[in-house]
Amino acid sequence: MTTKKLWTWLAAVIIGSFAVLIFYGVDIYRKIPPVPDKVVTTDGTIVATGQDIKDGQNVWQSIGGQTVGSIWGHGAYIAPDWSADFLHREALLLLDELAKKDGKIYKDLPDDEQARYKVLLKREIRKNTLDEATQTIVISPERAKVQAELAEYYAKIFMNDAEMNQLRDHYAIPKNTVKTEERMAKMNAFFSWAAWVCITDRPGDTGITYTNNWPHDELIGNIPPPSLHLWSGLSVLMLLGCVGLLVFYHAKNKEEEISEELPLEDPLRNMKPTPSMRATLKYIWVVALLILVQMFAGVITAHYGVEGSAFYGFPLDEYLPQSVSRSWHVQLAIFWIATSWLATGLYIAPAVSGYEPKYQVLGVNILFGALLIVVFGSLAGQWLGVMQKLGYVDNFLWGHSGYEYVELGRIWQILLLVGLILWLILMVRALLPALKKKDGDRHLLLLFTLSAVAIALFYGAGLMYGRQTHMAIAEYWRWWVVHLWVEGFFEVFATVVAAFLFTRLGLLRLKAATHAVLFSTIIFLAGGILGTFHHLYFSATPTAVLALGATFSALEIVPLVLIGFEAYQNYQISKSTKWIKAYKWPIYCFIAMCFWNFLGAGIFGFAINPPIALYYIQGLNTTAVHGHAALFGVYGILGIGLMMFMLRGLYPDREWNDKLIGWAFWLTNIGLLVMVTISLLPIGIMQSVASIKEGYWYARSAEFMQTDMMHTLRWLRVPGDILLAIGEMLLVIFIIGLKTGWSLKDKR
Ligand code: HEM
Ligand SMILES: [Fe+2]
Repeated sequence: MTTKKLWTWLAAVIIGSFAVLIFYGVDIYRKIPPVPDKVVTTDGTIVATGQDIKDGQNVWQSIGGQTVGSIWGHGAYIAPDWSADFLHREALLLLDELAKKDGKIYKDLPDDEQARYKVLLKREIRKNTLDEATQTIVISPERAKVQAELAEYYAKIFMNDAEMNQLRDHYAIPKNTVKTEERMAKMNAFFSWAAWVCITDRPGDTGITYTNNWPHDELIGNIPPPSLHLWSGLSVLMLLGCVGLLVFYHAKNKEEEISEELPLEDPLRNMKPTPSMRATLKYIWVVALLILVQMFAGVITAHYGVEGSAFYGFPLDEYLPQSVSRSWHVQLAIFWIATSWLATGLYIAPAVSGYEPKYQVLGVNILFGALLIVVFGSLAGQWLGVMQKLGYVDNFLWGHSGYEYVELGRIWQILLLVGLILWLILMVRALLPALKKKDGDRHLLLLFTLSAVAIALFYGAGLMYGRQTHMAIAEYWRWWVVHLWVEGFFEVFATVVAAFLFTRLGLLRLKAATHAVLFSTIIFLAGGILGTFHHLYFSATPTAVLALGATFSALEIVPLVLIGFEAYQNYQISKSTKWIKAYKWPIYCFIAMCFWNFLGAGIFGFAINPPIALYYIQGLNTTAVHGHAALFGVYGILGIGLMMFMLRGLYPDREWNDKLIGWAFWLTNIGLLVMVTISLLPIGIMQSVASIKEGYWYARSAEFMQTDMMHTLRWLRVPGDILLAIGEMLLVIFIIGLKTGWSLKDKR
């Protein structure tokens, strides 16, 4: 295919996919389970108002939201999924109430009579009693009574009842997480509504709830609907079919990419970094610092999994609750990865165009200051929010958004977006002369610029929901940011940046590399854009979302199946000439990135991806396996590789201490592998079995998670974590050593 044709295909894929993504987005808006004006009993007592539910959502967000357990399967792993937990407890209590109404005690009844009450329970709990005209949900007095009991139970946990000390410890929830009765009552109204969504039949669809019968719980008739099996099967067939096509295409069109005539010397050896390129060095130091802080936040978070309220006896949860350490851990991961990429963009732009725009250094320095303000400001805001020092509105603006991966308060979000746009401007103005040239690697450069534009602008999707926006809608936009980043534009960025650097080094043939990159971008985005819906199977969305999400996200795996070619090509490059030795570690990072893309994103991602799989295992430790192996494995390691590349150019004259950086590289990768395979994965698999056999609530319960076996498996994180931590520390020591000299060797 010609370059022009490839561009046309790419445009068609992007426009078509976004049209469908938006079309079904509108469908989600139209079919959401409403937040009612009020919930009343049949005898007219008001149980909760719509405003209570909305405020309750804000209370839940302020304590850390998705970083303390989860709702609809989205969130953290130590505490339960509140929607599933509430629902199961509600069902058990309601069985007792229904029997009591007939003067009987449920637990003393014979099987057949118990079965009768189970039927009555399902009939009552699944029926959609929302009156559209008055926007009122009507429930029985028995159900209202049960909900009041549950409200008391949750108040005991989230406030300060000594009876719950042990359970709080198991959930890593500090006492007085919620500080007033009023706030607690509202959060209960929200939990109750979130559970109602999971069990109420969608209008016109008897037997299928708003969440496609998620969470699995046979007691209340939540079993997978047939669509789940159907679309799971089809998604696997889609994947196989497209892999077949791709192999054929590859065999037919594969062009040799590695150059026949390799340069005799490093083409970048004599490049003199411009002042603005040199100004990016401090970004790298900040990345090094953030890596360390992120790692410590992770160690603390993992430790809360085994000692829920303290750190080796010190009552850490009073100062730094799990929800804060986890939020910092996740946010800092995104921050340091983003910072290393931003620095790369700023470094590469003047390097490729040979042009240093006026005031570029000033711009790079201002952006640096702005980034520091956003990073430390947002982390402080999250702490203030979770410590309950902010009101509903201030928490939304400055504190904790409650949504995983976009935890920043709204003001920080806006400032970050402004920073990203400033970054784009700085980069593009330096790149312009190169972009205008009609020859050379203009296509690669254009694609690089486009992925940078997309990365910056798509962060803006996170502004599409407000303080009290319906959860289903907030989830839709949240995944526009998170999914479209990691499975869309980041993949493009990663592919193009590697090819771009290698062509600049004269190692790849320009035309072949351009074709390969454009082609992979088309396939990534063909699956990746609509693949967004794989996060929304059970988030109160229509069935079409599930069907589209399942089939298109399966296509995301197609390019990953062939990623071994790329890995091997990178390996060949690392051996191709003598001078390339200087780039050994950036190239090894690119190879590692391919490995993790295959294992972490491809295998661990697809393992949880078919709807019937995710139905049972959404939000179990299998997701943690995937999250770590993909986010750190692919983009973290890429960030490290890019830093190594920049450092090569910033310290051009001397060889490196290969031992130090080598140990850092291997320990980091092996540590990650050990951590996910000997601890997280076995926990995830055991949880999956529990979820399939007993129900989702059980797989997340303290009852199951606190067995000796689970404890041992959680402790088994330590060896992997230690290797990874040492690896990262050596990396930082290496970076410092470039300044002090211990990382430098003989003259090059
Ligand atoms: C390098 C690319 C990828 C990265 C960085 C990545 C990262 C992530 C992250 C951070 C999460 C959230 C984990 C959490 O909630 O704690 C996630 C969830 C998920 N990912 Fe990926 N992912 C990638 C590729 C893929 C691919 C290729 C698939 C499959 C087609 C996939 C399927 C999923 C699914 C189904 C979930 C939802 C799991 C749940 O809600 O429990 N991911 N991913
Ligand atoms: Fe995704």
